[in-house]
Amino acid sequence: MKGKFPVEKMKNLATPFYYYDTDLLRATLAELKKESSKYNYHVHYAVKANANEKILAIIRENGFGADCVSGGEINAVLKAGFPAGKIVFAGVGKADWEINLGLDSDIFCFNVESIPELEVIDELAGAKNKKARVALRLNPNVDAHTHHKITTGLNENKFGINLSQLDVVLDRITTLPNIQLVGLHFHIGSQITDMDVFKGLCVRINEIQESLYRRMLIVDTINVGGGLGIDYEHPNRKPIPDFASYFATFKKHLKLRPKQELHFELGRSVVAQCGSLVTKTLYVKEGINKKFVIVDAGMTDLIRPALYDAYHKIENISSEAPMEQYDVVGPICESSDCFGKAMELNGTKRGDLIVLRSAGAYGEIMASRYNCRALPGVHYSEEFL
Ligand code: LLP
Repeated sequence: MKGKFPVEKMKNLATPFYYYDTDLLRATLAELKKESSKYNYHVHYAVKANANEKILAIIRENGFGADCVSGGEINAVLKAGFPAGKIVFAGVGKADWEINLGLDSDIFCFNVESIPELEVIDELAGAKNKKARVALRLNPNVDAHTHHKITTGLNENKFGINLSQLDVVLDRITTLPNIQLVGLHFHIGSQITDMDVFKGLCVRINEIQESLYRRMLIVDTINVGGGLGIDYEHPNRKPIPDFASYFATFKKHLKLRPKQELHFELGRSVVAQCGSLVTKTLYVKEGINKKFVIVDAGMTDLIRPALYDAYHKIENISSEAPMEQYDVVGPICESSDCFGKAMELNGTKRGDLIVLRSAGAYGEIMASRYNCRALPGVHYSEEFL
C-alpha cells in the first residue's frame, strides 16, 4: 500500500487501467448532497465527465439528476436508472433522433441554443402531440478565466444564444405552439476555482431576470451549468471540492424569484478526484539532458495533457527511492503523447507502477482506439478490500 493504492494487489493486473476510489466518490456525493440541499438546489450530474456504468449507478443512488449532451448519454442514464424527469438535454447540435428520444422519454427539459433548433423541436413535438419543455441557453458574456479551449460563456462562441438576440428568440417562441419555456440555462466554462467568476455570473443573471420581468416573464428554473474546479496540484490536500463556498456564492448573489428553482450541472468536481490512471513503466530511457519514463498508457487513455496541456500529478507507487526528474511519456506515435515534463518521481525502473491522479473526469470517457490500441481497463477500490 502506498498512499491509498493497494500496490501489491495491483501488480498482477493488466495495465493500463482506471482505478476508482468508490469510498471517495461516495464521500464526495454525500458532501454535495448536504451542501446543495441546504438551499433546496437541484444537481444534475454532467454525464460527459464520466459515464462509467458503476459510477453512474453510485451517483443515481444518491438521488441526483443527469445532464446529457447526446442520445447516447440519455440511453446510458436511463439504463442506469436515472428518472427521466431528472434529465436535462443540452448540446448545440441535437439530431432529430436525439430530440425524439428526449420527447419519448419525457425528459425534464431541452436546453436550446438557437431558433432553428427551437423550430425543429416544435415540429417533432407537434408530430407526437406533445409540448416540449425548453430552457434557453444564454450566453452571459462572463469570462471564466480558464483554459481557452474549455471556456464557453463569451460572446463569440458556438454555444448559447447571444443576449442581444434574446428578444427575437422570445418573440419566436410565442408563435411555436408545442414549446413551453420553463427555464434559462447558462454555462460559462470549466475548471473554475475563483468564486468571483460565479458571482459575476449571478450578477449577469440578475440583470437578465430584470429585463425578462419587464416582459412579464418569470421562468420556473434557472440552470447555472457546471464548472466548479478541483485541485489538480494537490489531490490529497482537499480531495472533496469546496461545495459549501460554491453554493453559498449563489445563495448570496443570485436573486431567485419566489418558487423559482436553481439547477446545477456539475461534472468534474463530482468525479475527478476519485479516479486515477494506473500504468506500468516499460522502459527508462536516458536522453542527452534528461531521462524519460516510458509507460504503457498513452494519450489514447488520458488525452487531457496532450489536448489542453493539462497538469495531472504523477506518482511512482512502486518505489521509495530518492526523487529524480523525468519526462513521462506514452507509446503513441505523436510527440504530444507526453503526460508531463520534468516530473519529480521516486527513482523509477522497468515494471514500476505509475499513477496519474485526478483522472476521474474527462479521462476514461475520452479514451480512444487510435493506433488500434485497446481501451483502458477499469478497477474499483472495493475489489481490493
Ligand atoms: N454543463 C455544460 C453545458 C457543459 O458544457 C459542461 C462541460 C458542464 C455542464 C460540466 O462542467 P464541469 O462541472 O465538468 O466543469 N474535456 C474538458 C472539459 C470540457 C467541459 C465541457 N463542458 C477537460 O477535460 O477539461
